[in-house]
Amino acid sequence: MEQQQKAEESILVGVFGYPVHHSKSPVMHNAAFRSLGIDGYYQRFNILPEKLGDAVKAVRMLQFRGVNVTIPHKVAIIKYLDDITREAELIGAVNTIVHEDGRLIGTNTDGIGYVQSLREEIDIDLNRAHVLVLGAGGAARAIATQLALSGVHAICITNRTFEKAEELARVIGKIQPNTYALPMSELFARMKDFTIVINTTSVGMSPNSDESPLPADYLPEHLIVSDLVYNPRQTRLLQLAEKRGCQVHGGIGMLVYQGAEAFRLWTGMEPPIAVMWDALLQSL
Ligand code: ATR
Repeated sequence: MEQQQKAEESILVGVFGYPVHHSKSPVMHNAAFRSLGIDGYYQRFNILPEKLGDAVKAVRMLQFRGVNVTIPHKVAIIKYLDDITREAELIGAVNTIVHEDGRLIGTNTDGIGYVQSLREEIDIDLNRAHVLVLGAGGAARAIATQLALSGVHAICITNRTFEKAEELARVIGKIQPNTYALPMSELFARMKDFTIVINTTSVGMSPNSDESPLPADYLPEHLIVSDLVYNPRQTRLLQLAEKRGCQVHGGIGMLVYQGAEAFRLWTGMEPPIAVMWDALLQSL
């Protein structure tokens, strides 16, 4: 009886953020539900920080299958959960909650999403890759953590505020000892050593921005250039990289794959990547 009831229940999921109106996740997930014929619905929830605890209670009471969590709640939500996964613990932030047997488990699919998108879109041998991470904020930590767990050869972190790069390198160094911080002033001479550079800063994010976190002469032809910034228009960094003959990797894939991983956890089904990707592109 219980089993049957479960099968008949709709899958309710959503995203908690503040503000959250910009989130593209509903279009991706609702398109995925439709294409697989699943009775599911994904909704945005604008949750004030002081109401976060109540919102988590609602997830339990209303039998949500799970929620995504975005700015500014990714760290604060942890204290309301029953458990978190190793990834979430290492990253120090949760972007996905799974409601399972009455328990709320927090995980983080940002780093996994990034690495999957990289593997799908770019010909790269991660075990031999020497990675340069630009930035030392939340996105940098998620990505560097997953790259370290995926066994990359070495990770270099640089940042406008160098102390933050040093701190992140210390944290990631516990997973991959071959991790170090480098001041931006020393970057130019070292660019030839890297396999891939990943921009995790917000430089280039504002619409019509012509800013690049690195000038063109920092981009040798062999370098793979990856930019988390997802602009319908290619970012200035990727434009410069393409002109130099570099392979480029944009930020849309990460968005799709982090959502796809959450979809897999909530439904137990293989996410329809192409459907999610198309829905996202159309909404940009
Ligand atoms: P996110 O969660 O998206 O990573 P964040 O934690 O606020 O956001 O981190 C933003 C990153 O972008 C930081 O590394 C920040 O550098 P600082 O630590 O020096 O602040 C970087 N960043 C933001 N604006 C920048 C700019 N104009 N030039 C260089 N780096 C910038």
